[in-house]
Amino acid sequence: MNAPHREQSDEPTSVSGLPLLHQTIYCSRTTAGVDEAAVARIIAEARRMNPARGITGLLVCGSGVFFQWIEGPRDNVMQLMDRIRADPRHEHVVTLSETEEVRERLFPEWDMELVSASEIRDVLIDALADAEDEKNTASLSLILEHLDAGGIAELGAVV
Ligand SMILES: Cc1cc2nc3c(=O)[nH]c(=O)nc-3n(C[C@H](O)[C@H](O)[C@H](O)COP(=O)(O)O)c2cc1C
Repeated sequence: MNAPHREQSDEPTSVSGLPLLHQTIYCSRTTAGVDEAAVARIIAEARRMNPARGITGLLVCGSGVFFQWIEGPRDNVMQLMDRIRADPRHEHVVTLSETEEVRERLFPEWDMELVSASEIRDVLIDALADAEDEKNTASLSLILEHLDAGGIAELGAVV
């Protein structure tokens, strides 16, 4: 008999048919020597690992700062965050938001998309325009407010 094996289809769903999604958004500082090639390796690793775990999201890297948006089943997101926190390619991991809700995925097509610091605002505005779910709308509006208030503006600044 095959060993049990977790796939995206195993994620808990509500009566509405929508998944119960855990979402973590954090930012961190890159450590010395983490250049474009290193970020490309992180993205390649993430895209290889994330589909089987039902993880989707985006990663922004600019001016020595990472900003990552991760959504998926709770246990998988928690386990991934444990590995990410211990990863020597960055430090000072600060959680900006952590939620668990029954809702649509915000970035269903992205196993882990690398978004440039200058594009993040447009990506969030597009996602807000497409969001049919009011929880998603609220969450995106909050992050956009942070962005416009300068909370994560240093992503685009020269440090
Ligand atoms: C900023 C950042 C983002 C990352 N994002 C992911 C991700 O989305 N998925 C993933 O599997 N690994 C990601 N990683 C890599 C993990 O930290 C870890 O190296 C990987 O999961 C392999 O872990 P293991 O060597 O313990 O098996 C990321 C690392 C960093 C520094």
